[in-house]
Amino acid sequence: MQEINYKNILKKIKPSKQENEKVKKLSKHILEAIYESSVSLDVKVDAMLVGSIAKGTWLAGNADIDILIKFPLDTDEKYFKKYGLKIGHKAIKKMDGISEERYASHPYVTGYIQGYFVDFVPCYNIKSSQELKSAVDRTLLHTEFIQSNLKQEQHDEVVLLKKFMDSVGTYGSEFKVGGFAGYLCEMLILYYGSFNETIKNAAENWNYGFSFDLKEHGTIQYFKDPMVAVDPVDKNRNVAAALTLQKMSEFIIASENFIINPSEKYFTNKDIITDPIKIIDQFNLRGTKTLLITFKPPNIPSDAIYPQIKKTENSIVKVVESEGFSVFGSESWTDEKDLVLILIEFEIWNLPIIQKHYGPYIWIREHQKRFLGKYGQNACLEGDRWVVNVKRSYENVEILLSDLMTEKKSGYLKFGKHLKKKIINEHKIIDLNIFLESDNIDDNILKFLYNYLNKGELLIR
Ligand code: UTP
Ligand code: MN
Repeated sequence: MQEINYKNILKKIKPSKQENEKVKKLSKHILEAIYESSVSLDVKVDAMLVGSIAKGTWLAGNADIDILIKFPLDTDEKYFKKYGLKIGHKAIKKMDGISEERYASHPYVTGYIQGYFVDFVPCYNIKSSQELKSAVDRTLLHTEFIQSNLKQEQHDEVVLLKKFMDSVGTYGSEFKVGGFAGYLCEMLILYYGSFNETIKNAAENWNYGFSFDLKEHGTIQYFKDPMVAVDPVDKNRNVAAALTLQKMSEFIIASENFIINPSEKYFTNKDIITDPIKIIDQFNLRGTKTLLITFKPPNIPSDAIYPQIKKTENSIVKVVESEGFSVFGSESWTDEKDLVLILIEFEIWNLPIIQKHYGPYIWIREHQKRFLGKYGQNACLEGDRWVVNVKRSYENVEILLSDLMTEKKSGYLKFGKHLKKKIINEHKIIDLNIFLESDNIDDNILKFLYNYLNKGELLIR
């Protein structure tokens, strides 16, 4: 690999001394606010800073402050849920922040405090994975594991790997991305020692099913995912379970590209063009037709929304293709609050009025009799098989789509469980060209459209 000035890159992507002090100080104040809130509510808990700030592996300008509120192991579940939220709300109020309830494996509160997002996650105070009561309890063990195993000089290696992942679009284990979790990046650095070695191995040696097991728990064979990274603190968990084959492949290809032509650009987020006119032009040049199905998302946790949208999208594609139309591509987007977009780009969106309907072979005389009874003079032979021209049910895909999204016909589609009602009652079908004519389109939608049109772009610089 060619030389590249990592020191220079790190200067830009590692938090400055100032930022570091600010975040540490803020975290400390928040921990104090939790303590005070718990005392005034008369609840015995212990708060702890976890996640990438506690591990010293966060990226500049990208701090989310993760805090666990630890309850004794024998706490009653109802009490745990109720006071877990109460303490969070109270502490955020004390800090003059804005709070919002979220849901992971159980409810928690997120606060927006002095420009930072802070998660207040209640958990049980466990000492080992045998005591695990909820998925977030693991976070505690992860933090301790990285704190005591990641060597001083390896912190920079993690930061490089996370930033590389971020800039090529493979960072983040949330459903929306399906990429590599921060903890997985840390595990990779523990396994390979450095950023360069990780990149080199991904490019040259990773196969489908690539696996590693830092603590040699011996449980690799129990997982059936594209990549297996046995959690050092929990032998029954694959840390790469949320990684999609797509994102794994993208990371491998980006690594190959980086080795061929190493550049600082791999550590910079690409500017994305969000000019609607340019996007319209690019779509129009393709000669396809693109429709958007829009509706408001149901009020459920965000990690539950994405799979349901994907399921609905896939089902729509399947049904319209079974009617003879042809889909060039599809993708979905949501802000998780006000709007869901399902984008479907068509290769064939209009079909002729007639359609061939095949009947039996002439050798099956019993069936032939029935077929001719129904179609009589209209039937003709194609070789030894009967065929008849019938009127097609749908000549235009838009009409088919709006029919599919009515109560009467909705049985043909597989909707995500919480979406069906929303879609039937309030969906709109809009041609992309018309959608893009309106002013004030969310910048994130334009980015989504840009990325849809320019798929491999982030992988090579
Ligand atoms: P974060 O997603 O905030 O990760 O989850 P992070 O390590 O702090 O990295 P940043 O914020 O992107 O810099 C917080 C913790 O939750 C656990 C990990 O212990 C992580 O440190 N976690 C999260 C997982 O184990 N797996 C996941 O997919 C996500
Ligand atoms: Mn974090």
